Amino acid sequence: MQNKVKHIDKSEVSAQLNTAREIADGFAARGLVGEAAPGYFIHTLGCQQNEADSERLAGLCALMGYRRVDDPAEARLILVNTCAIREHAEKRALSFIGEYKHIKEAHPDTVIGVGGCMVTQRHRADKLKMSFPYVSFTFDTGAIHMVPSLVKKYVSGKGRSFIISKDYKIAENIPTVTSSRHSAWLSVMYGCNNFCSYCIVPYVRGRERSRLPDDIIAEAKRLIEGGAREITLLGQNVNSYGRDLDIGENFASIMKKVCALDGDFRVRFMTSHPKDASSELIDVMATEEKAVKHFHLPVQSGSDEILCRMNRRYTSAHYKGILDELKKKVPDVSITSDIIVGFPGETEADFEATLDMIRYAEYDMIFSFIYSPRIGTPAAEMEDQIPAEVSSERFRRLTALQDSISEKKNSRFVGKKLKLLVDEVSKTDNTMLTGRGDPVRPVHFKGDASLVGQLVTVEITAATPYTLEGKLV
Ligand code: 5AD
Ligand code: SF4
Repeated sequence: MQNKVKHIDKSEVSAQLNTAREIADGFAARGLVGEAAPGYFIHTLGCQQNEADSERLAGLCALMGYRRVDDPAEARLILVNTCAIREHAEKRALSFIGEYKHIKEAHPDTVIGVGGCMVTQRHRADKLKMSFPYVSFTFDTGAIHMVPSLVKKYVSGKGRSFIISKDYKIAENIPTVTSSRHSAWLSVMYGCNNFCSYCIVPYVRGRERSRLPDDIIAEAKRLIEGGAREITLLGQNVNSYGRDLDIGENFASIMKKVCALDGDFRVRFMTSHPKDASSELIDVMATEEKAVKHFHLPVQSGSDEILCRMNRRYTSAHYKGILDELKKKVPDVSITSDIIVGFPGETEADFEATLDMIRYAEYDMIFSFIYSPRIGTPAAEMEDQIPAEVSSERFRRLTALQDSISEKKNSRFVGKKLKLLVDEVSKTDNTMLTGRGDPVRPVHFKGDASLVGQLVTVEITAATPYTLEGKLV
C-alpha cells in the first residue's frame, strides 16, 4: 500500500540499488573485493535522524562494494552528512570538508559527497560548488537513495552534481549497516510541519510524512531478530506520527505495537512536541513494561511571550500540566528538555521565567543552546537580537541551576533495581561496565565483558551529578 505522493516509486529505488550492484561488479571484475575493496568513510554531524540516515548511506556504500574504514585517509569514498541547526554545526562541517582536500590531493580518485541539512540550503550548496572544487557531489535530505547514481556519474567522468530536489519522499527498502548491533534507530516519520520561528528543519527536511505501520513493524522485527535490545523510534516531531496517514494510527498506538512484539528489548522515542504530547502516549509509557521511562520534552522557553514569538503553540501552564500528568502516572520518570537562551527580544524577566520552569520541572538533564539566527527563518529577521555577552551570561546561569538540580535528581534512584542495557566496557577499568536505562545518566557497575549488548538488572548504590553506580542483581 505505497502512496505515490509520499513514497518514492519502488522501481526508482530498485534502479538505484541496481546501479550500486553494478559499481560493486566493476570492483569485483578488477579483483577489488574483501580486504582489497576500496574504503568508505562516513562523517556524521547533528542529530539522531542524521545518524539513522548515515546507516542507510553505509548500507548503500556496502552495496556498492566499498569496505568500511576508520581512517578517512584510507577511504576512496568519503560522505559527510551535515547539520544546519546552528551556525556552529555548519562551521564544523565546512572545516571537516576542508580537511578532506588533502586526501583528494594525495589520491585524486577519491570521491567526496556531502549530504544532509546544510547542503539542502541553496546558498550552502552553491558555496560548496564554487569554493570546494574537490567536492564531487552534494545531495539533499530527500536524495539519499540517489547516492549510487551520483557516484557512478562522477567516477565515469560525467562531472560534479549539486542536487537540491527538495522532493521529500519516503524511500523504503534501502539496506542499512548499523553502527551498533544492540541499540538501533528506527525512523517512523520524516520532516516537520511546525515552523518554530527559529528553526531551519522544516525548510531542509520537508513536510511531515509517516511511514506505513507495516513497514515500521517489519523493520522493528528485523532489528530485534538481528539482536537489538533497544529500539529508538525517531521523528523530528515523533508524536504527530500518523496524522498525515489518516488510517486511525497515531504515535501512541504504533509505540504500543512495537512494545507488544516478542523479544527481550526496550523502546525509546524522540523528539516529542509538547503540543502533541497526549495522555494516551503518557499512558503507554506508564503501562508498557518495554517502554523506557524517559520523556524528552523540549520546552525551549518558560516565558509565554517568547513561546508565542517562537510559534511553539503552547503556554507554560499547558506544559506544566503535561509534566504534572507525566510525573503522576510514571513514577521516577526521567524528563529532559531543550532550551534556547537569548531568543530575539528575550528580557531578563523572560529568562527568569525559563529558570522558574527549570525549577518546576526538575529536569534530569537539559540540552541548552544559545540562539543562532538561521537564514530564511522568521526569527532571523526579528528586531532586538540579543548581544552575545548577554546570552553567554544567561547560559552560564542556566547551566549552574541545572547542575544543582541534576545532582539532587540522580539520588532518587539509589536503592532501586533498574533494567539496563549494557553499553560498553569501561575504557579505564575492564572489570567495569556502563549501562543505560530509565535514568538519563550512565550507570557504572562491575561485570563481565560478555554482558555487553544484554539487558541486566542493576541495583543502584550511589549517585554523583553526572553518573550512577550500582551492582548486578
Ligand atoms: N538556535 C539555537 N538552537 C536551536 N535549536 C533549533 N534551532 C535553533 C537555533 N536557531 C535547538 C532547539 C531544538 C534543538 C534540536 O536545537 O532547542 O529543540
Ligand atoms: Fe524545528 Fe520546531 Fe520542527 Fe522541532 S518542532 S524540528 S524545533 S520546527
